[in-house]
Amino acid sequence: MRIGRAVGWAVLAAVLASGCAGNGEGLDQNGNPIGSSSSSSASSSASGSASSSSSGTITADFTSIQDNVFTPICTRCHIGASAPEGLQLDAAHSYGLLVGVPSVEQPSVLRVKPGDPDNSYLIQKLEGAPTISGGQMPLGGPYLPQATLDTIRQWITDGATMSPATMSQLMAQRAERPTFEVVATSPPDTAVVSAPVHTIAVAFSEEVNAALVNETTITLETVTPTEFPEATQPPLPITTALAVGNPATVVIVPRTALGPGTYRVTVRGTGGGAIASVSGVPLDADYDFVFTVGTPR
Ligand code: HEC
Repeated sequence: MRIGRAVGWAVLAAVLASGCAGNGEGLDQNGNPIGSSSSSSASSSASGSASSSSSGTITADFTSIQDNVFTPICTRCHIGASAPEGLQLDAAHSYGLLVGVPSVEQPSVLRVKPGDPDNSYLIQKLEGAPTISGGQMPLGGPYLPQATLDTIRQWITDGATMSPATMSQLMAQRAERPTFEVVATSPPDTAVVSAPVHTIAVAFSEEVNAALVNETTITLETVTPTEFPEATQPPLPITTALAVGNPATVVIVPRTALGPGTYRVTVRGTGGGAIASVSGVPLDADYDFVFTVGTPR
């Protein structure tokens, strides 16, 4: 079921990409839709030379950044349950896990802080700022040309919104068939991550009704070993809030950072006060995901 959702999202992204190509926009210099080029040519376009940056039709627009940077360059590593730091950067997951979501390496720094590129961990990692943990991205290089970095900075300065085209596509889709669902989580379902885990993110397909986000609709618990099924654990104390500038993502902060163990997050989509979108569409089913925290990195 989760796979079905992810595919639906990917299909939407593909539809958008082809729609762009139809009117002559969104084509790369070879006349192919952006993002359709092979990964080898795509990564060479980001080879770090100043000249390669001029080849890009990249604009300060999320879909353009996705198609020119995240999809061709970053998803080599940042994809699936084993995505580094739980950061999945494919089109189906990236926005909800980036904007307003605390970084794993430095939980006090948001991955993308709308309006503030200098204090966005994404930019710090891409530029190799002296304050980062771990390596400059893309790990091992080649690093992004300055013009591309400037474009990503501009998108953040402008508020780090979704692309207008994507938004209107989503609005049209919702008008036709109201849906509200979980589109991404960090850590991803079934992931194994390093201790300690300071924050968890749950990205929805639409803005969440903040009044319904609380400790009865979102719970975090330790998964009981199957040999002790009767030993039900009480939920762990957490605080929940909507991500800064991204009200479709809920950020969960355990009162105590999570150490080694297996954990389950449950989002209650049924019963009184169940999670719903701002437009009143309920989640309609409970949603849960499980992840394991291993030894410290
Ligand atoms: C070769 C594999 C690889 C590629 C390609 C790669 N990354 Fe990473 N990324 C990692 C690894 C491994 C880590 C964790 C260790 C580290 O930070 O050095 C990481 C960590 C990160 C983090 C920190 C996340 C957090 O919450 O703390 C960000 C942000 C990031 N990468 C962004 C990117 C972007 C954007 C790209 C594409 C331009 C990219 N990465 C390409 C392997 C990769």
